[in-house]
Amino acid sequence: MTYGFEDQLALRGTHASKYDSLMKVFGVDDPDAIPMWVADMDFPAAPAIRTALSKEVERGYFGYFGGPDAANDAVAGWYRRRHGWTFDASWVRYTHGVISGFGDALAACTAPGDAIVLFSPVYHAFYRQADAMGRKVLESPLRIENGRFELDLDGLSVALTENVRLVVLCSPHNPGGRVWSAEEIRQVADFCLERGLFLISDEIHMDLLFPGETFVPTAVAAPQIAERLVVLSAASKGFNLAGAETGFLVTPDRALRKKLDAVILDRESTPNRFGMAALTAAFTECDDWSDAVRAYLAENFRVFSDRMNALAGISVMDMTSTYLAWVDFAPLGMSDPEILRRIVEAGVVPSPGTQFGTGGAGHMRFNFALPRPTLETAIGRLEDAFRDIQ
Ligand SMILES: Cc1ncc(COP(=O)(O)O)c(C=O)c1O
Repeated sequence: MTYGFEDQLALRGTHASKYDSLMKVFGVDDPDAIPMWVADMDFPAAPAIRTALSKEVERGYFGYFGGPDAANDAVAGWYRRRHGWTFDASWVRYTHGVISGFGDALAACTAPGDAIVLFSPVYHAFYRQADAMGRKVLESPLRIENGRFELDLDGLSVALTENVRLVVLCSPHNPGGRVWSAEEIRQVADFCLERGLFLISDEIHMDLLFPGETFVPTAVAAPQIAERLVVLSAASKGFNLAGAETGFLVTPDRALRKKLDAVILDRESTPNRFGMAALTAAFTECDDWSDAVRAYLAENFRVFSDRMNALAGISVMDMTSTYLAWVDFAPLGMSDPEILRRIVEAGVVPSPGTQFGTGGAGHMRFNFALPRPTLETAIGRLEDAFRDIQ
């Protein structure tokens, strides 16, 4: 079955943030610009998800949502069936997105003035949320070895300050799509256990592994951390549902779950009805779509990296998951604003690497979840942007 990945949707003027915020965020008013920044896909959602949402609309009742049992079963069933983690469906809690859940986990596990560890460069909203909640960030810079990110736990051990309470593992990692091995996850978990730290495992990209690759949930790799673990995830990345603003937390430990419940209750919010319908359909009826989109993305990565790596002074980090390529322009010796200016003037808009913390300078992140013809056009523009120095 084909799912329309090859056809470019007309998204300008539809409240698609990646198109309709270009002016506000980048000052770009070029109606032909190709946005490769915001992390969602230019693809229509799976047919079963659209049917589930249509049913909600047809019913016409849009009151507060209650009764999450079917969604809980869907989340637990998906994790078990697709990722090999079996847990009690009653451990699941919903949030208005993963970053909202991250805030809940910070509130439950830390206090203002405490510090958290981020492996940088990493998804920028972690920094903003921590800052907004008065938590400090200790960066543990990832090392690049053999062309991919590696954790530096020895370095972190030396740099660790007294007020650090929690470590955030982005698994798979954004940017750069690094899939951590079970052994690496175990090492992070043991690091946390030995020092009495909490571990947040953000698994939002778990359903974007390229065919043949395996995602290992933190709870499977390191069951020993269960008492100090909060897992954050969603159907939003894997199934392109970010606008439905629905994420979830899975917390194996009863006492920690109670603390989180107090935080969530304090917020006085119920789940988004449409997000819950979409999540339930995604995790019960869309295995084929998930397989198809992962194959399409893997081929997009091959096309993007082959042509970009052919340009002198530019290299794409090799990756096995996500649609967020991490591209190194540092050998060109240009400033970050100059790199961005060239790319934007050529008609492509990436995420500046400097947003992602230490290790981000000299880099840009490109979202290649585009129909392949659009991607080819974007690559042609990027080639033009640096043609004078080839
Ligand atoms: C690692 C990671 N966590 C969280 C989010 C945001 O999730 P949400 O929109 O559900 O808050 C993203 C979005 O790109 C992400 O990459």
